[in-house]
Amino acid sequence: MKQIPLNDLKRQTLEPQILAAMNEVVISGSFVLGEQVSSFEAEFAFYTGTRDCVGVANGTDALELALRALGCGPGSEVVTVANAGMYASAATAAIGATPVFADINPATMTMDPNSLRRCMTLQTKAVIVTHLYGQLAAIEELTELAAGQGVSVVEDCAQAHGAERNGRRAGSWGAVGCFSFYPTKNLGAIGDGGAIVTNGEQIGRTLRALRQYGWASKYEAAFPYGRNSRLDEIQAAVLRVKLPHLDRWNARRREIVRRYGVAAAPEIKLPDALDPAYVAHLCVARTRDRQALRDWLAKNGISTGVHYPVPDYQQVALQGIFRCPVPLAATEHATQEILTLPCFPEMSEDEILRVCDALHTFSVNA
Ligand SMILES: Cc1ncc(COP(=O)(O)O)c(C=O)c1O
Repeated sequence: MKQIPLNDLKRQTLEPQILAAMNEVVISGSFVLGEQVSSFEAEFAFYTGTRDCVGVANGTDALELALRALGCGPGSEVVTVANAGMYASAATAAIGATPVFADINPATMTMDPNSLRRCMTLQTKAVIVTHLYGQLAAIEELTELAAGQGVSVVEDCAQAHGAERNGRRAGSWGAVGCFSFYPTKNLGAIGDGGAIVTNGEQIGRTLRALRQYGWASKYEAAFPYGRNSRLDEIQAAVLRVKLPHLDRWNARRREIVRRYGVAAAPEIKLPDALDPAYVAHLCVARTRDRQALRDWLAKNGISTGVHYPVPDYQQVALQGIFRCPVPLAATEHATQEILTLPCFPEMSEDEILRVCDALHTFSVNA
């Protein structure tokens, strides 16, 4: 029986186009912040429905530079969630600010607005809202709540490229939207890459300076805490080849999750795959006996994962750094129940059917 992987980057399509685009960069002699990057920035701003896009080196830098551009630093509190893989907390801690954890809504596993309300203090400078697993959070309500307290919203869209609600796409609600183009993402490069989208003219200017030593112009460092975090030309060229296919790939991911949902035994809960606010970056199922489901799928040659096994407040690196002003019961509970199933656009029909069959027969055979 052939093992079904969680993902398989070797199966990616468009290889000839990608190689041709890379070749063009090699011949051009322009490798950093050239025409490919500026064209991709314009195309991705247009795609997300925002005014500006600033390419950076990766998604974690995107979060860190975004927080800097919004004036966060030591003494600031940044509210986020603890079930989203540490990325927001790491960026917050890196600038000397304090991560503060709000609880999640168990239905979407994203930030609960009521919990956010209870977490904001006079020290709160920003909220990082992670659209986890490809699911848009209650971003309209969260943005309104934050705005009422004069707090900026950073959308972490690293798992939600193209997720949309009422004609608006991930990244277009907050002061900034941060993206990762890590190869496994819905829009992935062939190495590291990231971007920040914004409607704010001044924020865009600040971010452009921060990604390049704080330069206002060449060799004139006017912005404090600038560093080197640039998207390179090869990655931008690859992303330009892939961007026109993103919506089709997202639809395919959703269709796989929809089929799992139809087939699954009642004790396995799957995301609502008909909602375009979900782009199925990860197909995360919930079930009371996770280990039993995991063992059953393993027996059927199906790989699974847990995203994420350790909540941020239990991470050794964060001890003594964060604040937890509310009970995190929903976060704690979700951490015990979640299980990630294979879901990527290049999955074969046979693989999808095998997963469907295993999900269907789980209760009988577990
Ligand atoms: C939700 C989320 N935020 C941020 C990141 C960080 O992105 P990167 O790995 O490009 O630094 C990732 C992914 O890796 C992510 O999944």
